[in-house]
Amino acid sequence: MTEAQLHPVQPEWKERALIDDATYRAWYETSVRDPEAFWNKHGQRIDWSKPFTKVKNTSFDGDVSIRWFEDGETNVAANCIDRHLAERGDQVAIIWEGDDPKDDRKITYREMHDQVCRLSNVLKENGVEKGDRVTIYMPMIPEAAYAMLACARIGAVHSVVFGGFSPDALAGRIVDCQSTFLITADEGLRGGKTIPLKDNADKALDIATRQGVTVRSVVVVKRTGNSVGWVEGRDLWYHDAVEKASPDCPAEAMNAEDPLFILYTSGSTGKPKGVLHTTGGYLVYAAMTHEYVFDYHDGDIYWCTADVGWVTGHSYIVYGPLANGATTLMFEGVPNYPDQSRFWKIIDKHQVNIFYTAPTALRALMGAGDRYVTSSSRKSLKVLGSVGEPINPEAWEWYYKVVGDSRVPIVDTWWQTETGGILITPLPGATDLKAGSATRPFFGVQPQLVDAEGGVLEGAADGNLCIVDSWPGQMRTVYGDHERFVQTYFSTYPGKYFTGDGCRRDADGYYWITGRVDDVLNVSGHRMGTAEVESALVSHDKVSEAAVVGYPHDVKGQGIYCYVTLMNGVEPTDALRKELVAHVRREIGAIASPDKIQFSPGLPKTRSGKIMRRILRKIAEDDYGALGDTSTLADPAVVDDLVSNRQNKK
Ligand code: WTA
Repeated sequence: MTEAQLHPVQPEWKERALIDDATYRAWYETSVRDPEAFWNKHGQRIDWSKPFTKVKNTSFDGDVSIRWFEDGETNVAANCIDRHLAERGDQVAIIWEGDDPKDDRKITYREMHDQVCRLSNVLKENGVEKGDRVTIYMPMIPEAAYAMLACARIGAVHSVVFGGFSPDALAGRIVDCQSTFLITADEGLRGGKTIPLKDNADKALDIATRQGVTVRSVVVVKRTGNSVGWVEGRDLWYHDAVEKASPDCPAEAMNAEDPLFILYTSGSTGKPKGVLHTTGGYLVYAAMTHEYVFDYHDGDIYWCTADVGWVTGHSYIVYGPLANGATTLMFEGVPNYPDQSRFWKIIDKHQVNIFYTAPTALRALMGAGDRYVTSSSRKSLKVLGSVGEPINPEAWEWYYKVVGDSRVPIVDTWWQTETGGILITPLPGATDLKAGSATRPFFGVQPQLVDAEGGVLEGAADGNLCIVDSWPGQMRTVYGDHERFVQTYFSTYPGKYFTGDGCRRDADGYYWITGRVDDVLNVSGHRMGTAEVESALVSHDKVSEAAVVGYPHDVKGQGIYCYVTLMNGVEPTDALRKELVAHVRREIGAIASPDKIQFSPGLPKTRSGKIMRRILRKIAEDDYGALGDTSTLADPAVVDDLVSNRQNKK
């Protein structure tokens, strides 16, 4: 670690901060020594209609059971809205910034209450009951947050599907959780282009029906007003239904362990998993991390640039900030529209204090040139955050110096869909920063590094990242498949939660996440399984076999490199390459667009037929000098062909 990359806490950060280093150390120590006492205290940060008497009841062994605050009752929507009304009913809850810079809206807590109650009644009138699954497929508009909160209010379980996913991907997620209700919009709008959400949804519902799951009602928000297909008796306009509905809807008392939402995420194998989060522990953890990690103070304007289709949008656009009575900014558009200064203009326009984004966006904007940033003031900024993938030190330094004018702390927050909230992160007033390090664990989080055999590594070391005890925001199960939950996360290193990430701990005890050690890709902060892309490729009738690996990409973090074996007699042409790219986009969505396709008559396999991905990764990285041992290959000659036809020559 060179001196230049160390950024000690500045006096002004410490002065403003809720937590200084001594407090961090003291709280952390109690949180792991006596989690019961620690979480008993912090569990009180939300309102409980029936107070809990039990705090923690968790086991990572055997069947794995995770329960927090298990006899308490509460309602997430009441905590995010109702309890703020007396004090801050007229405060802005959501600042909405449209794709077009001329479009914006401000919604107060009172207005949000009215909208959410009405929508809750629409759901109820259409037969949605406590425990039913509701799919939300929406652009970044306030109605997306209302939809989530309306589900929470009546005890329905939402499953938000990212608006960039294809009809097939949407259908798969509807079928898996047997959702019978859908909330969507006519179209989305991003970077001046429309996204045919209703049209995609119609296609998805046809696919789902063929697979035995029929969605009974579809509520459609009018966003662009362009004409869309309509099924009488099934589809209803949001504005009509909400206007007619009563604004009075009591919040359902929910047990702390009742499900709040399902969110599908990719793993190394198989279909995406329905990550299940429950009510009490999730909200306590999302709200608490939001407050301390971003050093959130009453009145701060807070902006997270994620999409509500991902967990970051759930915890840090909607639930965490609203539970804290914050003003949360929701942005419909993209960082480079109308031009590359959009983020910085929005920060000035709305006087944003806390800004939370992804390294991929920073790298893209860094490439555009500093003048887009320096032409803005950014004086309002107090904390900057990063999430979703490792941030390389160059991007970190640029974020720090150019965006933050070397006066604003950066919190590099490591976490996962499964963790519900941030687990490893600096705290602005407490943690000396190192460019590229997620630094130290949050309260109650006990990281451990292990080697491939599960041996515990002490001190400075490089290994696989596990967490040895539960925290309240942890996922509880894979929806409908608890066995898969146990297998995926607790069987590699029995008794520990295995994150799937590699990690280094330095001599100061700081954690440096090095990226996934399994077959999960992280492309522009979007998580996807190589297996999903492979199965999309082989569903094309000209493809016989496919193997997909990641390779380092300057802007996206990782690019998608596909090795494709064609059916006998099929010509490998550039036109076919384009066709396959389009096919994968259709099957999964644009986020899964292959960057490189290499036609390969054979793949390197062991004699037992297992594809040797290690070799494919090396070739994709153009590092074929270091292929290592290839003697176990069934046909070593395959490798020569792969090397000479590689698509990523430097
Ligand atoms: C990666 C997103 C390094 C990591 C919240 C993790 C990160 C996966 C960071 C989860 C970070 C997330 N530094 N890597 N600050 N944050 N990751 O489920 O590989 O979409 O396992 O959750 O993203 O992605 P997910």
